[in-house]
Amino acid sequence: MVKNKNNQTVWKTRINKESSALFQRVGSSLEIDKNLYKQDIQGSIAHVEMLFRQKIISFKVKNKIIYGLNKIENEIKKKKFIFDKKYEDIHMNIEKRLFEIIGDDAGYIHIARSRNDQVITDFKLWIISANKEIDKKLDNLIETILKIAQKNIKTIMPGFTHLKNAQPVSFAHYMLAYVEMFIRDKSRFRDNLKNLYENPLGVAALVGTSFNIDRNFTTKKLGFKKPTNNSIDTVSDRDFVLDFLFSTSVCSLHISRIAEELIIWNSDGFGLINLSDRVVTGSSIMPQKKNPDLLEYLRGKSGNSFGNLFSMLTILKGLPLSYFKDLQDDKEIVLKSNYNLNNCISILNEVLNNFSPNKKKMLALAQEGYTTATDLADYLVRNHGMSFRTSYKITASIVNLAEKKRKKLHQLDLADIKKMVPMVTSDVLKVFDLNYSINSKKSFGGTSFVNIKKMITKYKKIK
Ligand code: ARG
Repeated sequence: MVKNKNNQTVWKTRINKESSALFQRVGSSLEIDKNLYKQDIQGSIAHVEMLFRQKIISFKVKNKIIYGLNKIENEIKKKKFIFDKKYEDIHMNIEKRLFEIIGDDAGYIHIARSRNDQVITDFKLWIISANKEIDKKLDNLIETILKIAQKNIKTIMPGFTHLKNAQPVSFAHYMLAYVEMFIRDKSRFRDNLKNLYENPLGVAALVGTSFNIDRNFTTKKLGFKKPTNNSIDTVSDRDFVLDFLFSTSVCSLHISRIAEELIIWNSDGFGLINLSDRVVTGSSIMPQKKNPDLLEYLRGKSGNSFGNLFSMLTILKGLPLSYFKDLQDDKEIVLKSNYNLNNCISILNEVLNNFSPNKKKMLALAQEGYTTATDLADYLVRNHGMSFRTSYKITASIVNLAEKKRKKLHQLDLADIKKMVPMVTSDVLKVFDLNYSINSKKSFGGTSFVNIKKMITKYKKIK
């Protein structure tokens, strides 16, 4: 039996010199993986229950171990647990303390397992719950955006392509575009659950075990769906880490896009939104300034997320099977990305609750840049049997005329238009009305007010 006297590592018999302070410092993952203590204890309890059911350990030993593990969980929760970097990680720290509490019977806990399967079990359980947290947070964010949309169905702004005014759009429709992105993020995180729900526990170090274990039992007990198929792949695989980091990256990317839009709209050049004083910062020299720092923080943080994804991809690239110390960094990377994303979702939610659209400015800008030109071209096709290329050409000349006369399209006289298309009647003038323009976009997914209302009702039902 492995003795674990105080101040001794489990490998003391084989490695009889203590590692240097420097090695202890860099080799330890404790600062990070102590965040996984709950999952580690949960996994250990399931493991010893299984060992008992399979008659590998006695009832007494099982109970002693579970008693010790529960006590340890309590100590950690109450911050009474003394972590020691010398024991490398959370697994060895808990095992060490178990010896102190229940004595040598603690040594039975590590039958038919290794830290290699233990750590992935902990980590998968942790990511599953992180996924669920993110899912809830995204629901809150979506709810906020839906409220904004609900209040702004009739708020008209210019839609842009190339950041040039393109066609009028409802501000609600614009915001709902982000709802689509965040719904996709939710399903991306959910799709990841399929791999996360494969139970690694019981593959031991890399080849499985000679003990008659029951991996289906721990699978059920820990809430996984099935045991993993191949022991070597199991301990080498970090695809589930990449999936998480990719999903956080895409979600951060969406956040950076909306942040950038808000920054542009808030700029003095655009002035399409007003940010409340709660979400702006001042300048140390320019007394008048109100800067959108929080939004810039969001825009910048996506870089951090992508960096983390690339770190992990690089760690895994060319790494032979199975476990290597290189992999130990996975948890720090994931925890950072998770912290950042949660933070960013909350910040975005807060900003969205603290801004208002400048409706007048939005409407005025929507009138700039001949945004109803396409509506005129469509009108000529529909009412005068032209091909779109013909009506496009005629409309372009009408735009040229308006530009020459320094008029907006709706300021043109019927006579001006008749010069280019003699057959039109005064009915044509309606196409320059922004409300008309928006409401005519009734095609599925378009910006018409009816569509938006339908979509808001639909989104409210999705969870
Ligand atoms: N702390 C280690 C990690 O996070 C646990 C696995 C250690 N396994 C090993 N063979 N050294 O990766």
